[in-house]
Amino acid sequence: MTKDKCGTCFVPEGELDIQREFAAKVNAMWDTNAAPKAFVRTFGCQQNVADGQRIMGMLSQMGYTFTDTTDDADLIIFNTCAVREHAEDRVIGNVGALKHHKKLKPDSVIALCGCMMQQQHIADKIKKSFPHVDLVFGTHVVHKLPEYLHSILTKRKRRVEIPDMDGVIAEGIPSIHDGGVRGWLPIMYGCNNFCTYCIVPYVRGRERSRLPEDIIADLKKMVESGIKDITLLGQNVNSYNGGVSFAQLLRMANDVPGDFVIRFMTSHPKDCTKELLLAMAECEKVEKHLHLPVQSGSSRVLKAMNRHYDREKYLELIKTAKQLMPDIVLTSDIIVGFPGETYEEFCETVSLIKEVEYQTLFTFIYSKRKGTPAAVMEDNVLRKEKGKWFTQLCDEQEKIAEKLSASQIGKRFRVLCEEKGRTENTVNARTLCNQIVEISCDEALIGQFVDVKITDASAWILKGKII
Ligand code: 5AD
Ligand code: SF4
Repeated sequence: MTKDKCGTCFVPEGELDIQREFAAKVNAMWDTNAAPKAFVRTFGCQQNVADGQRIMGMLSQMGYTFTDTTDDADLIIFNTCAVREHAEDRVIGNVGALKHHKKLKPDSVIALCGCMMQQQHIADKIKKSFPHVDLVFGTHVVHKLPEYLHSILTKRKRRVEIPDMDGVIAEGIPSIHDGGVRGWLPIMYGCNNFCTYCIVPYVRGRERSRLPEDIIADLKKMVESGIKDITLLGQNVNSYNGGVSFAQLLRMANDVPGDFVIRFMTSHPKDCTKELLLAMAECEKVEKHLHLPVQSGSSRVLKAMNRHYDREKYLELIKTAKQLMPDIVLTSDIIVGFPGETYEEFCETVSLIKEVEYQTLFTFIYSKRKGTPAAVMEDNVLRKEKGKWFTQLCDEQEKIAEKLSASQIGKRFRVLCEEKGRTENTVNARTLCNQIVEISCDEALIGQFVDVKITDASAWILKGKII
């Protein structure tokens, strides 16, 4: 591996050349009239979506076309998520169901990758219980897919590749975009925070930042290809360190010519600086929306979660953000029922959401993740009880969202038309503040910016008219 000035590991160009050679060899295996079909399904977060797009990019180099169903697929890849048990259960169910596919199409290849596979106990389970799976590969070796596929196709021997290594950065891997107006741009990988409930640092490795010049070059390519809404991705973008700070990177992105919107996620309150909030406020292309996961409103629970901020510091940050950007839209993640959390502590979370007034909350009941510190903490609250707290939180949030949405009626926004709406002749568009507006207009406007006036609102969606 080569190391840059920040100590980051980049996969050497020579190793990537070897992978390109394997891709060419796989490509040469197909009959020119019968391209093989691949089915790629991604679970989980936007980082995984971005990985899925790179997997598709490499498959395309190898001559694969893509299909939406497993039935006619010669290659099936599940790109998995490990963040909560529910996501893992879904994958296990789906993989079990593929036994039948393998019987009907014995030459097909079944592969599993992503965060879930980076865990040894899962890889062992797959090896033992799912003999129809041909390939398992972890998060640090995605760029080696051509080599693995070539070996499976030529030797027909199972491979499980989950090296326990420091994370790497592989530049120059092609990526296939879904054709929509939004694009995902990873700026860093991994996480150093070790929040006590979270599996991510164990399956994605230590934090490592891409170089600003590589990021900006990708951003320019995306803009040139017509993508108009670009999200910079990382587990904790606020600790980006590619030689410039995240705030500086946002300013560099803002200077790229073109009419487009820059978004980012996820932010960690402990690293969210005034410098960043100022950059957001001053850069016209940067969204006036901050997704700032609080996780809990109780300082005691936050300490047990190893979050490195308390309720007061978080509220202080929100105050500064609202002062600098009075129209800012705030969203957050919350975990209900962390081990040892009392009902009184949960009520502190309810009072915090009322004080902050988030437009949207992503709420999760705590899910035990093997190998994390919280997995061995005492957890006495019954799941049923946690379910009640969860419902209470969602009910409170709905009232807040309804009130905030209603206050938008009559306002005017510039929005990007994104996709077909739920009903005929409607389009879903997105404001700079990341709110969805349903407008009655021709689908031909998808991909364009228009000005709208908000005419109606519910907790989840605004309705608007073109002006
Ligand atoms: N249980 C429940 N929710 C979790 N998250 C992360 N780990 C867990 C877990 N073990 C949530 C956090 C994080 C979001 C992406 O997923 O709220 O911000
Ligand atoms: Fe998990 Fe915390 Fe890292 Fe986010 S910051 S990925 S919640 S460990």
